[in-house]
Amino acid sequence: MRSHSGTELRPAYPISTERLLLRPLAVDDADSLLAYRSRPDVCRYVPFEPMDKQLIVDRLAGPWARTSLTDEGQSLTLGAELARTGQLIGDVVLFWHSREHRGGELGYVFNPDFAGHGYATEAGRAVLRLGFEELGLHRIVARLDERNEASAGVARRLGMRQEARLVENEIFKGEWSTELQFARLAREWNAASS
Ligand SMILES: CC(C)(COP(=O)(O)OP(=O)(O)OC[C@H]1O[C@@H](n2cnc3c(N)ncnc32)[C@H](O)[C@@H]1OP(=O)(O)O)[C@@H](O)C(=O)NCCC(=O)NCCS
Repeated sequence: MRSHSGTELRPAYPISTERLLLRPLAVDDADSLLAYRSRPDVCRYVPFEPMDKQLIVDRLAGPWARTSLTDEGQSLTLGAELARTGQLIGDVVLFWHSREHRGGELGYVFNPDFAGHGYATEAGRAVLRLGFEELGLHRIVARLDERNEASAGVARRLGMRQEARLVENEIFKGEWSTELQFARLAREWNAASS
């Protein structure tokens, strides 16, 4: 197993999982991203409002164009497509928060038309592998609104431990939000995969 000391992450694409291919987003993905990122139900518990096509096009030309992580403070967003059909069904993100503390964070947004098959969990597992095995992170967290049970389900299936419940710690979209924080450590990841 490769383990680096947090220098950088330059994955070889596409990243294959059992049913998915993960790869950088492309300009051609705008309509597939719009199909779910424009939906109010998808955006209910995420820190962005429903997106229009122009915003998606701007993101594709900006932060989503990144294909590697070379320093802390950066994030790598990857599209998840069904290997069988090539359809883009969601996206995952790895934030590199700290080089010194080797800390990162996982995020995921999927098209509800493809919910209930374990695709988000499968893609999230691939991102944990990138973070732990290729970037050499020590700890990866997931932060979510307590009401977002689907997201908590993904974190639990990924073997992440609920470590905190921050009661009404943020005003989120006009309401108090109770935040759950989940985490997994590299040694826990290594123990499970050896
Ligand atoms: C969070 C989100 C990605 C979860 O999607 P999801 O489809 O529920 O999650 P998964 O892809 O892991 O699928 C899990 C479901 O598939 C089922 N499943 C079927 N086959 C499976 C398999 N091979 N592996 C794992 N689960 C499987 C699970 O039992 C589970 O079903 P349940 O919902 O009835 O408990 C999705 O709700 C979403 O995009 N929400 C909007 C954005 C958002 O809130 N993101 C998180 C911000 S913190």
